[in-house]
Amino acid sequence: MTELADAPATDGVEERVAFEVNGTSVSVRRSHPHLLAALREELDITSPKDGCSPSGQCGCCTVFVDGKAIVACQCDMDKVEGTSVVTLEGVDEAERRIFADAFAACGGLQCGFCIPGIVMRAKAQIDKKGSSLTREKMAPHLGAHLCRCTGYVKILDAIEAVALGEVCSPALSAEVGGGGAKYEAAPLTLGDRGYIDDIRVPGMLHAALHLTDHARADITAIDATAALAAPGVEAVFTADDLPGELRVGLIHKDWPVMIPVGGRTSYAGDVIAVVVADTRDHARAAAGLVDVTYEVHPPNTDARVALSDTAPLSVWGTDSNVLSTSAYKRGDDFESTFAASAFTVHEVFQTQRIEHAFLEPESTVVIPSGDDGARTLHVYSGGQGVWDDRNDIAAVLDIDQGRVTVELVSNGGAFGGKEDMSNQAQTSLAAWKLGRPVKCTLSREESLRMHPKRHPIEFEYWAGCDADGRLTALKVRGIGDSGAYASVGMKVLERAAGHACGPYRWQALDIETIAVRTNNLVCGAFRGFGANQAQFAMEGVLDRLAEQVRISGWDIRKRNVIRPAEEWGPGQIMDDGAGGAEACLDQIKASYDAAIASGKAVGLGLGLKNSGLGNGFREVSKAVVRFLAPVDDAPGRIEVRHGWTEMGQGVHTVAVQVAAQELGIDPDRLDVIVDTTRELGFGQTTGSRGTLMVAGSVSDASAAALAGGCEIDVDYEGEYVVDWTQKLGDSSVTHPMIHSVFSYAAQLVIADPETGDIEKVVAVHDVGRAVNPTLVEGQVEGSVHMGLGYSLTEQFPTDPETGFPINMTLRSLGILRAKDVPEIEVQLVEVPQPRSPFGIKGVGEIGLVPTAPAVAAALRAVDGEWRSTLPMRRPT
Ligand code: FES
Ligand code: FES
Repeated sequence: MTELADAPATDGVEERVAFEVNGTSVSVRRSHPHLLAALREELDITSPKDGCSPSGQCGCCTVFVDGKAIVACQCDMDKVEGTSVVTLEGVDEAERRIFADAFAACGGLQCGFCIPGIVMRAKAQIDKKGSSLTREKMAPHLGAHLCRCTGYVKILDAIEAVALGEVCSPALSAEVGGGGAKYEAAPLTLGDRGYIDDIRVPGMLHAALHLTDHARADITAIDATAALAAPGVEAVFTADDLPGELRVGLIHKDWPVMIPVGGRTSYAGDVIAVVVADTRDHARAAAGLVDVTYEVHPPNTDARVALSDTAPLSVWGTDSNVLSTSAYKRGDDFESTFAASAFTVHEVFQTQRIEHAFLEPESTVVIPSGDDGARTLHVYSGGQGVWDDRNDIAAVLDIDQGRVTVELVSNGGAFGGKEDMSNQAQTSLAAWKLGRPVKCTLSREESLRMHPKRHPIEFEYWAGCDADGRLTALKVRGIGDSGAYASVGMKVLERAAGHACGPYRWQALDIETIAVRTNNLVCGAFRGFGANQAQFAMEGVLDRLAEQVRISGWDIRKRNVIRPAEEWGPGQIMDDGAGGAEACLDQIKASYDAAIASGKAVGLGLGLKNSGLGNGFREVSKAVVRFLAPVDDAPGRIEVRHGWTEMGQGVHTVAVQVAAQELGIDPDRLDVIVDTTRELGFGQTTGSRGTLMVAGSVSDASAAALAGGCEIDVDYEGEYVVDWTQKLGDSSVTHPMIHSVFSYAAQLVIADPETGDIEKVVAVHDVGRAVNPTLVEGQVEGSVHMGLGYSLTEQFPTDPETGFPINMTLRSLGILRAKDVPEIEVQLVEVPQPRSPFGIKGVGEIGLVPTAPAVAAALRAVDGEWRSTLPMRRPT
């Protein structure tokens, strides 16, 4: 570390700007880059959120300036002088309550990060148009906003309810299956429930990262002199300052926290240094002054080339560009079965890299306590596995895990993109070394570069069927570009292999997928986890076979759909839960027939997706129920502590509803807490397993509390364990049960046969048991929105020469805006899952698995073209 003895004065006679905020006169530094920074960083007004400043592309920072709704990150300080600014904090309390009630009652929010900005935009329109504001009129005004969670359907429901003056009375549900409000819905709607970047601590410093200029280069020198001399800078840390492990990682410890001199970068998100200063602006400005000398090497940016014998190693410290191979053969011999098939298809499919685009960029706050010898750290993390965060932070600092507490702050969206650590370790290092609280929040560009993406995968499929359309032989070869570090890339390609055959019966299977290390952006977990890519190909093959057989897309699926007691793909004998696949098909039939009869272009997709890790892992979830003493006349609060990350999907709401039902108490008495002070965690909140695991463990803890008399200040612990799965391809087991739970979905895409415009999506989902149907519907709507973007317009390519992303803004990602989202009709099917608490199957992961193939089939019906590459329509 290099540390300045005397930090330069930073706030001498700085020019100031005077204006009014929420009726109060204020004066702030003119040097703020925009109004949003002044509001958040100097005035501590945090309802306007920062999702993309200064680009003005997410709408999260919308405020009123002189009565007009604008995005504050696009408003120069020169334009603020003398104006009147209103934020959500300054809106009349009764009106705030109306918006909060409407969004809570309609299920109009998930992670909530986008909502305060949308409320301000909605207020501007309702102020103008009153009850004449319909959802159709409102949708174009949401063009300045992005919501990655909801698909906008329930947001527009809520806005319409406010415009019409409907009285909404939301309440938490006290039972499993009740459709009540989301936990913390009101404070989230109003921007009152803070995210990590909203945390303010006295004496807090700000950290910023210096990222590499090259995806594959040796670091020969790092000079921090200019950065240290910059205004407000306290210290600059490099890899030399790490007391413990250099590398972290969820499965392989191959991801350097920072690249040292003598080391080599492996992708565009590698960190070289962390700069700590008195303000965020100072830290970011100084981070740009760290001078790094590189010896640049050509990056491996093509996965096929990286697989060749002559390719150099992509990643520093590894010995192969093959991260993993997942393979299995089942049933009859593929070659002879394929040769004997009445109809065959051979097709290559290519899917694209996708960015999660969660609205809240990664942020970490670390607060140290105690002196050097006994120092402890309290880390606020929005990660998807606070126990992994704790363990890796302790390893990096070379301290006992007991000296690090990681507390979850429910995040502003994740979708798998916050499983790996981003800036937690660097921020912890700075706080540890300086003995002062430190916050580090990534800019949108840094976020785009650093966290893992959805894998681009090339699939080659050979498939056959008999004369009646009964599936015979399937051979699949898949190559996934996993980027530099392992993350969970090997598991994504393993899941792609497992799901490559779709929810169907086959006579002969020969499947292999390879995860390849390149110098492109790291790829890892993202909703669907390899199943989306594989089933885009599988369903496309099925539709091609159906045309040869001359039967409909629905018929070929009905003839081949997997049923209970049958052997599925990797050899698993399916349990009664598998009845959900056919139930979804049967349920969607009426809509399918009606759309065809009305002359529409129609496409159908059927999918399955496991919940949980499976593959032989022993999965454990623990929870604690704890009764607290009454305070004054109020009944005592009840803590529900569990180990799962709330990221908008509603796992805290599930915990509340289960505890309220099992304990027979008012859900308003419950507080949900996730931290590492109790050993309740077991890995990442991933794979749609949070809902069923938390439901099982909270139910068990509630039973323990009832049995123990619900004593005050006693931890009543409960547990839910899944320990009956086996590894994919385990040859020692005749029928390996690789997953304990699957959910199923059929989706119907209805398009205009002339224009190809998508008019409607019908989404039929078997979730086993919908703990909260309103939230489940919202999850499905959000998934369909994400799936349509995946199908049509979204992509996140890298430059083949450099490995760096080509587009670095939210708008360039091709995410669909509100006005572009067609009608989405959700129908829930409940085929209970045996051995699962309350029959729950999970909903998030399956969400967009059937969407892309259904879109491809609908567009085929429009113009006769088969689609095998995503996205199908580039953004215009
Ligand atoms: S933060 Fe201002 S529009 Fe995104
Ligand atoms: S609720 Fe809109 S981004 Fe999460």
